[in-house]
Amino acid sequence: MGSGGVIIPPKGYLKRMWEVCQRYDILFVADEVVTSFGRLGKFFASWDLFDVQPDIITTAKGLTSAYLPLGACIFSERIWKVIAEPGKGRCFSHGFTYSGHPVCCTAALKNIEIIEREQLLEHVDAVGTYLEERLATLGDLPLVGDVRCQKFMACVEFVADKRSKALFADEINIGERIHSRAQSKGLLVRPIMHLNVMSPPLILTCAQVDEIVETLRECILEVAAELQASGQYQGQ
Ligand SMILES: Cc1ncc(COP(=O)(O)O)c(C=O)c1O
Repeated sequence: MGSGGVIIPPKGYLKRMWEVCQRYDILFVADEVVTSFGRLGKFFASWDLFDVQPDIITTAKGLTSAYLPLGACIFSERIWKVIAEPGKGRCFSHGFTYSGHPVCCTAALKNIEIIEREQLLEHVDAVGTYLEERLATLGDLPLVGDVRCQKFMACVEFVADKRSKALFADEINIGERIHSRAQSKGLLVRPIMHLNVMSPPLILTCAQVDEIVETLRECILEVAAELQASGQYQGQ
């Protein structure tokens, strides 16, 4: 999840969970609303990155690159057969007024065509590795408790004490402080409590990665100095 703070599961964790679910015949639902259609350099993360085959996948955002609103729930043949096998008189009676709107579906198809034609998955894979490396350099700065990044999903976590990882009091509003400074320098980073979460567009370039990292570095150093001057941060 982006909004949950980009907590990257330890290697093998999802696979083990999926195997346990399989053993007890529990359906595995993968929420790929954020991770599908390119953000991690693949159309879907479940199979290509985590080596699991979900029974149900939910998807949205990248499906149309947000140009028009569209979400989808994809389920396996096994589930489909239970719901709609011919001759059983069953149906999946569920929908929204605008479900499957043809204009949004056309936008999604064109979006997928462009992702393929412009090789955006390969682009995210390559530039995403660079983003991971460059963002990690912020880890040594004051205030920075952790940097988490996988391809084009990234998060910088701020702490009052780098050793204990103690957080700032809510009223310091550290995520928002750094975000508003970044915004004044032309960079948008999403503030969520003590986090700045980033979901850059899939066409981000290496030069823009440098710009993001250098702008964020300046903002972090400036905010650290400001908090130190007002006695709200002891420095490390
Ligand atoms: C991982 C994840 N799942 C689900 C949602 C909600 O999706 P929707 O608004 O399409 O229901 C979000 C929204 O940000 C999300 O990040």
